[in-house]
Amino acid sequence: MTTAEEENWKVDCSDEENYGLTYSEMLQQWVPDPETTCNLFESYSEDNTKDCSLFTFNWICPGRKEVKQAEISGDNAGEEQKTEEKSDFDFWDEPKEANKNGAGPRRGKNFQNVQRLCRKNALLSSSIKHLSSSKAADEPYFITTPIFYVNADPHIGHVYTAVIADATARFHHLCGSSPVILSTGTDEHGLKIQQAAAKANQTPINFCNNISQLFRQAIDDSEIKYSDFIRTTDSDHRTVVENFWRTLVETGYIYEGKYEGWYCIADEMFLAEDQTKIIKLPNGQDQRVSIESNRPVEWFSEENYMFKLSKCRNDLNKWLESGPVVEPVKYYNLLKSWLDQEQPDLSVSRPSSRLDWGIPVPGDPSQTIYVWMDALLNYLTVAQRTKASTNKSVWSPVHVIGKDILKFHGIYWPAFLIAAGLQPPKALRVHGHWLVDNDKMSKTLGNVVSPHTCIDLVTATGLRYFLLHEGVPDRDGNFSFVRMVRIVNAELADGMGNLVNRCCGKSLNPLKIRPSVTLDSFHACGPLGIELLGMLERTPDTVHDYYKIMEFYKGIDQLMSLIRATNNLFQSLEPWKLKKEGQIDKFTATMAVSLETVRIVGILLQPIIPSFSQRLLDKLGVPVDERSWQYVSPVLGPSYKSSPNKNYMATVITSSIRSLKVFRKDIIK
Ligand code: MSP
Repeated sequence: MTTAEEENWKVDCSDEENYGLTYSEMLQQWVPDPETTCNLFESYSEDNTKDCSLFTFNWICPGRKEVKQAEISGDNAGEEQKTEEKSDFDFWDEPKEANKNGAGPRRGKNFQNVQRLCRKNALLSSSIKHLSSSKAADEPYFITTPIFYVNADPHIGHVYTAVIADATARFHHLCGSSPVILSTGTDEHGLKIQQAAAKANQTPINFCNNISQLFRQAIDDSEIKYSDFIRTTDSDHRTVVENFWRTLVETGYIYEGKYEGWYCIADEMFLAEDQTKIIKLPNGQDQRVSIESNRPVEWFSEENYMFKLSKCRNDLNKWLESGPVVEPVKYYNLLKSWLDQEQPDLSVSRPSSRLDWGIPVPGDPSQTIYVWMDALLNYLTVAQRTKASTNKSVWSPVHVIGKDILKFHGIYWPAFLIAAGLQPPKALRVHGHWLVDNDKMSKTLGNVVSPHTCIDLVTATGLRYFLLHEGVPDRDGNFSFVRMVRIVNAELADGMGNLVNRCCGKSLNPLKIRPSVTLDSFHACGPLGIELLGMLERTPDTVHDYYKIMEFYKGIDQLMSLIRATNNLFQSLEPWKLKKEGQIDKFTATMAVSLETVRIVGILLQPIIPSFSQRLLDKLGVPVDERSWQYVSPVLGPSYKSSPNKNYMATVITSSIRSLKVFRKDIIK
C-alpha cells in the first residue's frame, strides 16, 4: 500500500461524540470498495500500560484475495503502539492469550471508541453492500409473470409463478429500485380459448371476462402486489401488437409462406415430426401427441405468414452468452442445446377461417396473428403504459416463467424483439412445476389444487410461505396439504409466533416496550448473545444473495435459523427468572436482543409474507420508513443513531397475534 493510499484509510476518532467523522466521510474513507469489503478483523495493542492510540485494521477482500489495512489514530497520537499480526478471533471475543504482564490488552476509552466505530462500520458496510451490489437505488426494475390462459380456473401452479415474481419485486423495492413494476394478467386469444368458450356455450369475451376475473381474484387473495393486470383483449394491447407486426414487416422478418406440420392446440405450439410420438389411447386407438407435453397434436397445412427465425440464431446465442441471462443453469443449457440446431422459420398467423378469436393481421383480415406473438407482446404493452404514466423507460424486463414455456420466452420472444430492433429480455428466471402425489395437476385426474382451498386453510401468508419454502427452481415440487399445514404450524406459528408472543406477552412485557438495543445488550447475554449478534450480522447479506437469485427457500432457511437461535437464547437465559431475581439489566438485554432479531427477521420476511411482516413490524412499532434493506443491520437503525436511548412503545395489536395462530389447524391426520 502506498503512503497516499494509507492516508486515505486513516480515520480520526478523537472526537468521542461522532468519532471526528460524518457517516458519509466514514464511508468514503473506510469503504473504498464496498462491494468487495466483506470482513473486518481487528488487531490491538498488547501493551496495557498506555492508552492505545493506533489500531490497525485488516480488510479482507475475498474476491481479490487481498488484505488491506486501515489505521485509526486516537487522542494519544504519537504514542503509537505496536500492533499484533492480523488476528483471526472474533472482534468481541476475549483475547486468547494474556500478554507478557499477565493481563489482557488494555481496553481504554479509545479502544472502546474504536470498537464502536469498527462495529458500526462493519455493519454499515454490510447494509451498503446490499444497496450497491443490487445496483438498485433509483433504478427501474420490471418483472413479469406469464399471463394466464383463461380456459380453466387458477391453481397453485399459477399462484406459485406469481408469488416468485411478487417476492422478487418486493425485494427490489426494499433495496431501493424505483419504479418497481410487476405485471401479470390473462392470455385470452387463440384456438384453445375459442374452443373452451364454445364448449361452455358462451361468447368468447364473456367467457374470458369471467375467468380473467377469477385469476385477478386469486392473485389479489395471494397478496400479489401487481402494478398492471393486462388482458390481451385490452384495446391498447391490440394497437401495440399491430404496430409491432408492421415493424417486423418493415424490417423484412415477415414473409408470406405455407405451413405444413403438426400443431398442439393445448400448448398453442407448432411441432416438427420428431417432436411428436404416437401413443395408444385406453380405447385402443392411436393418438399422435407432443413428446414434451403429452398432449394431442393435429396436422395443419395452410397459407400463413412466416417469421424468419432461422436468421436469428447468432443473435440469440450472443444474447444468451451476454451474462447470466437464463437461470437456473439447467435451463440455459437446454436453450443452448436447442440453439445448437438450425431453427426453422416460424408460422406467425393462422387463417381466420380456423381462428377468428384473436388480432387480425394488419392489412390482411383473412389471417389472425399467432396467439404466442400476441401474448408475448403483453410485456411491451405494459412497458408502454408505464412509460406513459411515469415517463420512465423500464425496458427490458425480467420474466419469471415455468419450465414449459421456456422455448417461447428463450427463443421466439428474444428473436421477435431483436428483429424489431428492441432490447431482448434482461433475464429469464425459470422454475419447475408443482405436482400432486407426483402427478401433473389435471382436471381428468381431479387433483387440481385451488389456491383458495389453501388460503382458507392456512391464509395467504401460509400459502406463500409454503410455496417459497418448498419451491426449488430447478426441480419439481410435490404438493401436500399435510406438509403445508405442518410447515406453517412449525415455523410460523410455533417458531416465530412463540418468540413474538413471549417477547410481547403480558407477564414479561406488561408495558409493551421494545427496549433500545445496543451492542452491550448482546454482550450482556453472554456467548449466546455474541453468537446471535454474529448471525444477525451475516444473515442479511446471505439472504440478500439468495433472494437476488430467487432461491427463496435458502433465504427462509437462514431466517428460521435465526429464530431458532433466539428461541434457544430466550429459553437458556430464562428472563422470567431474571426478572424475579431482580437482574434487570440482563433481563432487559434478553428482551432487547430477542426483539431486535424479530425486527430484522420481520424486515427480511417482507418479500415472502408481506401482510404478516407488516403486522409484525407494526406491532413492534418499527416506523414505516425504517423497513427497507438499509435497516437490516442489528443495532444500527438510524433511530438508534439519532436517539440511542429511545424506547419504543409497541402497540400490541391482538389481531396480529390471532393471525399468527390461525395456522393451528387440526387437519393433520
Ligand atoms: N398463456 C401462457 C403464457 C403466456 S406468457 C406470454 C401460459 N399460460 S398457463 O396458464 O398455462 O401457465 C402460466 C404459468 O403457470 C406458466 O409459467 C406455467 O409454467 C405455470 N404453471 C402452470 N402449471 C404449473 C404447475 N403445476 N406448477 C408450477 N407452475 C405451473 O402458459
